[in-house]
Amino acid sequence: MLFRLVWRYLRKHIPSVLAIFILQIIAVVAALFLPDLNARIINEGVVVGDTAVIWRLGAVMVGFSLVQALTAGAAIIIAAVTSMGLGRWLRREQFDHAQRFSTAQLSRIGPPSLITRNTNDVQQIQMVTMMTFTIVVTAPLMGVGAVFMALRQSVQMSTLLLIVVPLIALIVAIIMVRMHPLFRTQQTRIDRMNTTLREQLSGVRVIRAFVRQDTERQKYQNANADLRDVALKIGHLFAFMFPATQFIIWMAQVAVIWFGGHLVQQGSMGVGSLIAFINYLMQIFMSVMMAGFIFVMVPRGSVSAKRIMEVLNTKSDLEVTDNPLEVSGPAEFALQDVTVAYPGAREPVLENLSISFQRGTVTGVVGPTASGKSTLVNILPRLFDVSEGEVALNGHSIKDYTLDDVRSRISLVPQQAYLFSGTIASTVAGHFKDAEVDRDRVVWALKGAQAWEFVSRLEDGIDSEVEAGGQNFSGGQKQRLAIARALYREADLYIFDDSLSALDAQTEQRLRDGLIDYVGSAAVIIVSQKTSSIVQADQILVLGDGGMQGLGTHEELLDSCQLYREIVESQSGEVLQ
Ligand SMILES: Nc1ncnc2c1ncn2[C@@H]1O[C@H](COP(=O)(O)OP(=O)(O)O)[C@@H](O)[C@H]1O
Ligand SMILES: [Mg+2]
Repeated sequence: MLFRLVWRYLRKHIPSVLAIFILQIIAVVAALFLPDLNARIINEGVVVGDTAVIWRLGAVMVGFSLVQALTAGAAIIIAAVTSMGLGRWLRREQFDHAQRFSTAQLSRIGPPSLITRNTNDVQQIQMVTMMTFTIVVTAPLMGVGAVFMALRQSVQMSTLLLIVVPLIALIVAIIMVRMHPLFRTQQTRIDRMNTTLREQLSGVRVIRAFVRQDTERQKYQNANADLRDVALKIGHLFAFMFPATQFIIWMAQVAVIWFGGHLVQQGSMGVGSLIAFINYLMQIFMSVMMAGFIFVMVPRGSVSAKRIMEVLNTKSDLEVTDNPLEVSGPAEFALQDVTVAYPGAREPVLENLSISFQRGTVTGVVGPTASGKSTLVNILPRLFDVSEGEVALNGHSIKDYTLDDVRSRISLVPQQAYLFSGTIASTVAGHFKDAEVDRDRVVWALKGAQAWEFVSRLEDGIDSEVEAGGQNFSGGQKQRLAIARALYREADLYIFDDSLSALDAQTEQRLRDGLIDYVGSAAVIIVSQKTSSIVQADQILVLGDGGMQGLGTHEELLDSCQLYREIVESQSGEVLQ
């Protein structure tokens, strides 16, 4: 899994990979000759007292060292650059993918988990790739090379390797097996931690207002402690691995010096060879340790790879056609026999609903909470797909057009207005480059949204700062800025999802009266719980349990639709026209 994911990127960067490997081969070969040269300096120079040999071999040794250092360094730099590039690619791919997900898919994986996958998981893969690059050639080459060179120094002593190397391999294997499940747990706990944190930060006002700090703090601390526990377990295993292997290595050294000392005394081995043998022994251990590290790290990377693959392999369930139609002329939307059911819900929210939204007309939508008003609004720009029937655009299903084409025809003020950070001008215009912002149009849109009144009183006017989510504005102000954002865009269908409810009656009246100048001949849908907002609409759709309860004008519905009459009566204080 890890390999497949990483290969998707690396196959486009084969020259870098080859460069890393070739440089490392050179570095390892140079490193393998160093102890041998050292041995020869001692045996042929120091022991005999020949200074010329010492100088000559010493110079060669310096040369080999330089080559080794330079090639190893270059290999690491290229490896770092390549794996950082991989990280960037993984983040971008995941981001692009998640952008296309439907609302249902987004909530299935969950934004906090998507954030972890895009940060922490990518980092894990980056690290594993980097380590693998530096080890995958070096470790086996150095291991085999050092065994060979050690045998050249002394066959007798090399039997020691038969005991020590398997011992270290065993320790590494045990640790690896125990660590793998812990890594998976760790990633899901990071997810949970992010989920808790995100929920608490965005709900911070509610938490304070309801004096829920203690419960929430407890919740956070539990998530935090769970993460610590699993990290500690992993840490313990690592903490055990290093001293254990170190111990074996030092014991092996003692044994080598012990037996080697005897051999030197008997004259069957040079002092230089003994030192070289110790050096090769260290190289062998290094390579076994490095290999062990890979075996520990790769499972960790595959946990992350699997989580990232899950994002990349999730195909957006919003079907798009291969040969999209082009919208010709102004767009007109209609619902044809539409049924919408949310996954997991027993009953559909909307059933067999047909209605058309003609240009130049206003459609009012009323109904109690949870009657599917927002659902109706969301299926038009394909934030969610219908289960049966069609949403039609100029007579064709909206699935026959590209998503962008459909969405660019609709200007929506969602029920929960979300404002992006920036200035008022950039928020309303939806552009962050000043050159693309039509400042006059921004003011014009603000006026239409009845927002100019408070914006003009701000010190910096339309250049005033908007914090992420519009936190520095009141609910009603946010709502009006969101309306201005919708008016700024030219569209064929304007939708206001319960967006007028946060306004006082007079402001709302002014806004509605002026609307016609702003939307021109486009169609308008006004969703509201208040009948007063929609009495003048050309058609009113009444939604109730299981979908449409009535469709007609105010007068017609008063006659024919009981639910509508009830709603009007319950709000009769407001219906004084
Ligand atoms: N994304 C969703 N996933 C599952 N159920 C949903 C989702 N959105 C809305 N619902 C359900 O659909 C019903 C109608 O919701 P909604 O269209 O928001 O109603 P309204 O806007 O009229 O208050 C509710 O019962 C709600 O729980
Ligand atoms: Mg709603």
